[in-house]
Amino acid sequence: MRRPLVAGNWKMNGTREGVVALIEGIKAGLGDTNADVLVCPPAIFIDSVGSLLEGSQVKLGAQNICQEAESGAYTGELSAAMLTEFGCSYAIIGHSERRHVYGEADKLVAERVAAAVSGNVTPIFCIGELLEEREKGTTEQVIAQQLDAVLKLDNGVALLKETVLAYEPVWAIGTGKTASPEQAQAVHAFIRSHLAKQDEALAVGIKIIYGGSVNAANAENLLGMPDIDGGLIGGASLKVNDFLAICKAAG
Ligand code: PGA
Repeated sequence: MRRPLVAGNWKMNGTREGVVALIEGIKAGLGDTNADVLVCPPAIFIDSVGSLLEGSQVKLGAQNICQEAESGAYTGELSAAMLTEFGCSYAIIGHSERRHVYGEADKLVAERVAAAVSGNVTPIFCIGELLEEREKGTTEQVIAQQLDAVLKLDNGVALLKETVLAYEPVWAIGTGKTASPEQAQAVHAFIRSHLAKQDEALAVGIKIIYGGSVNAANAENLLGMPDIDGGLIGGASLKVNDFLAICKAAG
């Protein structure tokens, strides 16, 4: 069975004081859960959040990762080697803000997925269509193309077997507009059918989480769909009670 995952993507939010309160609140309120719970703070807080999480079941992730595994002339980037030294076991890769604000293309995103896996960091590989692509009816084509960027690497299937996918329709991110559970389920099912053409075990085993305006009120219905294995949570991950309610809905 696929174990649910709830990942908080804090984006560019937080202060020294604020992150302590957030982590202490999550640790105090989480209780027993069958879900994996993960927070992805801004890089500058990874070290301090890692210390605060010591001994807790909550895992630590980064918001991106360099395509180069170790070190080198890559201004502004963090390698898998650095992230694992500081306790990160996951990295969000290909988030729509990276793709659309910073121009990260499919090929670079695929290289980042490969570097993460080879550096023992689990990628949370984000895919999703723009509003105009949905309206044109090209959602499945866009999703397939984003997946194929990794699948066409030599070891693409093996890489995806070590990867979590996050379906995040761009029009639902930070907008308060959520995909309906049925809309999200349909894309998650499409993703599995697309992967099944390459490898049946991959299609069945891969964890696919949903992101885009998930909140305490809609989490249960979204996360209750058969092909939705958890959530990638932006805004609501900054509020202790909302994040805990979503974790509860998942686990
Ligand atoms: P949101 O962000 O929950 O604020 O819509 C989700 C994400 O960007 O991962």
